[in-house]
Amino acid sequence: MRIRLIKTALLTLLLVTSGWAAAEELPGVKVYKSPTCSCCTKWADQLRASGFEVETVNVRDVVPIKKQFRVPPQLGSCHTAIVDGYVIEGHVPIADILRLLRERPDKKGIGVPGMPIGSPGMEGPDPQPFKVYAFDAQGNIEEFASHSP
Ligand code: CU
Ligand code: CU
Repeated sequence: MRIRLIKTALLTLLLVTSGWAAAEELPGVKVYKSPTCSCCTKWADQLRASGFEVETVNVRDVVPIKKQFRVPPQLGSCHTAIVDGYVIEGHVPIADILRLLRERPDKKGIGVPGMPIGSPGMEGPDPQPFKVYAFDAQGNIEEFASHSP
């Protein structure tokens, strides 16, 4: 009986360990964007280059999508993405997405309001500092990360 327990424990440990290995594969990302948005495509391409499997969905009106996923209006940007149950609004740096997936905070998602020059997909000659905010389903917002050029 005891040996069986130990075997079960070992098997569980093995499964958990292999689960961890599998978890290192990045989850898929679904990006809702307007068909004419080129900065959205650039952002999605950078995610792909980092190893994410990205599916883009062109929508004529992105506003209902943001409402559906409870993106606070003041955080609104061009595209809205879903990754592993989290909402990613706008030009969020990949490092912040990875941190979100690692830390798994009790939040609805993270977002970069507007489209600051210098954020991923919005590269330009005069990069601006910008912040990433976390939000919950009730619309509460707090700073998640801060970036300066
Ligand atoms: Cu954009
Ligand atoms: Cu976009």
